[in-house]
Amino acid sequence: MDTITVKDKQFRLSIPEARIQAAIQREAERINKDYEGREPLFLAVLNGAFMFAADLMRNVSIPSEISFVKLASYEGMGTTGKVKSLIGLPEGIRGRHVVIVEDIVDTGLTMLHLLETLRAQEPASISVCTLLLKPEKLQVDLDIKYCALEIPNEFIVGYGLDYDGQGRNLRDIYTVV
Ligand code: IMP
Repeated sequence: MDTITVKDKQFRLSIPEARIQAAIQREAERINKDYEGREPLFLAVLNGAFMFAADLMRNVSIPSEISFVKLASYEGMGTTGKVKSLIGLPEGIRGRHVVIVEDIVDTGLTMLHLLETLRAQEPASISVCTLLLKPEKLQVDLDIKYCALEIPNEFIVGYGLDYDGQGRNLRDIYTVV
């Protein structure tokens, strides 16, 4: 299906499953080479990265571990604005080679916050592996070592990414019409 409806919006097919899988395989092979002998700890960011993490890990062939974290927004008591706290961070990050697995880097603010939080745990190294990047929207200086696909500045849904909670289960990626 080339056009779908999610809630009140129409989306058109933009990145078919086969292209997504080929791009993931390519990045996994790079990781297999770069992290040989280092037993990396993959940290996948929920909810969006669940599907990407599953497919990435099926292409990772070196000894490694995976764990899942979530950024939870909450209203700080007596403060204005939202604070995002990282939940689910496993113990024993110190001295590990960490690879953050994210669905999309848009402005980059989420990733910047994540990197700062993780660096405080003193891992041996941290790199970023994102399925998608919107280079035109990036607001901060980030070193993104592994990026499967670059996309224009348009809203997308599917393959883990949602529109208002829905569409995460789509196998392909769709762009809003
Ligand atoms: P950033 O902090 O602006 O980089 O935003 C990152 C987060 O925004 C991602 O983890 C997604 O949850 C969400 N996001 C950004 N762009 C899109 C999109 O096109 N579709 C769905 N979610 C998006």
